[in-house]
Amino acid sequence: MKRREHWGSSLLFVMAAAGSAVGLGNIWKYPYIAGQNGGAAFTLIYIFWVVVIGLPLIIAELLVGRASQKDAVGAYKKLSGPNSPWWLAGALGVLTGFLILSFYSIIAGWAVAYTFKTVSAFLFSGDFLALQTAEESEAIFIKFSGHPIYPVVWHGLFMVICIYIVSRGIKSGLEACNKILMPILAGILALLVVRSVTLPGAMEGIEFLWYPDFSKINEESILIALGQASFTLSIGMGAMITYGSYLGRSENVPKSAFWTASTDTLIALLAGLAIFPAVFALGGEPTAGPSLIFVTLPVVFNHMPLGGFFGACFFAFLSIAALTSAISLLETVTAYFVDEKEWSRKKAAWIMGGIIFLLGVPCCLSYGPIQDFKIFGKNFFDLLDYLTTNIFLPFGGLLLSIFVGWFWRRRLATEAFLTGSKSARLASLWFICIRYVIPILVIVVFIAKLLGKG
Ligand code: PHE
Repeated sequence: MKRREHWGSSLLFVMAAAGSAVGLGNIWKYPYIAGQNGGAAFTLIYIFWVVVIGLPLIIAELLVGRASQKDAVGAYKKLSGPNSPWWLAGALGVLTGFLILSFYSIIAGWAVAYTFKTVSAFLFSGDFLALQTAEESEAIFIKFSGHPIYPVVWHGLFMVICIYIVSRGIKSGLEACNKILMPILAGILALLVVRSVTLPGAMEGIEFLWYPDFSKINEESILIALGQASFTLSIGMGAMITYGSYLGRSENVPKSAFWTASTDTLIALLAGLAIFPAVFALGGEPTAGPSLIFVTLPVVFNHMPLGGFFGACFFAFLSIAALTSAISLLETVTAYFVDEKEWSRKKAAWIMGGIIFLLGVPCCLSYGPIQDFKIFGKNFFDLLDYLTTNIFLPFGGLLLSIFVGWFWRRRLATEAFLTGSKSARLASLWFICIRYVIPILVIVVFIAKLLGKG
């Protein structure tokens, strides 16, 4: 049998895990849902979930991956025995990754398209940056996202890049890509934050982001914060199991997980800091929702000195972040077919990537030709997003915590924790979180949400 590929070093692994975590969830989603759900109050709840549920779960997923050296389904199978039904939890994860990527890639495609538009407008002063009002910008966005062909082409282009990277494998694909892109990402973000907070009038945006309005918090927003914490940390669907399966025994998993979660949270907060002060300083609409960054920001950039340059940087930043996350979603699906079905990596990546592309088409069109087609009052895109983010991911996290806390024996779980790290105290704290705290909290949130609706 071929030896399993492993990450080249701890740093490269953390870059890959952080690359998976930092994505559209931080830059596109977090600012607008924080904007809609009470700003700082929402942020506090979200951070609470990151610490209490997110961090222990990333550790658990990585440990399960490392101990089994298998994909998400294979990991459950290997650790629970061949006749146990636990592999279904892994299968739900692979399915979730599949579904997430099919709508994720649409927004990523928009981001790539906007990068090209802003770069070419900056270089050749095209009409894109001549926008003066939010109405003009919105009209352009609606025309673009509602077009029956262009967004599908950008979505396809994004998927091809993603498939190409995944088909090259861990070292020459994922690792090589993250090694180059993550430092660029950090550099662009620093530039954007400095630009944004030094605009006159920026304070209002900072206040908006940091003034807690608890009146907007209810069962729904608590569930949304939980979904957001899972989504942004890439947990609950086996991406971290898969990334963990390429780790060796010397890796200090709790430490790497800590760096991954803190980088991710920091970047979400910084993205808010890069966006809201600029929106307020230049008179945008902070609660615009999913279109916030595509409608409001182009106008904002247009009104700022050297805006074309910063606009191009912003959309490049968004595209890079989306790419390093999307490859982890496709890797989770690919690894399943490679490990369990013994497909070649190339075959698995191209076939599954192709099917994800096809499933993405109706998502894409739900901003245009089929926007009136609604299921449970949501269009195809919103339905997939809501189901996967707020139901499947927290549920996947719940299953994993029950598995590790109650079925993978305590001795084995603790042993896995202590392989590469030393603190027995931390290990017991972690185990208590996994065994009791997480299952109880997630179940309570689900029940509260169900009763709240009824
Ligand atoms: N964490 C990514 C983001 O914030 C999305 C993602 C979810 C990636 C689940 C992998 C698994 O954009």
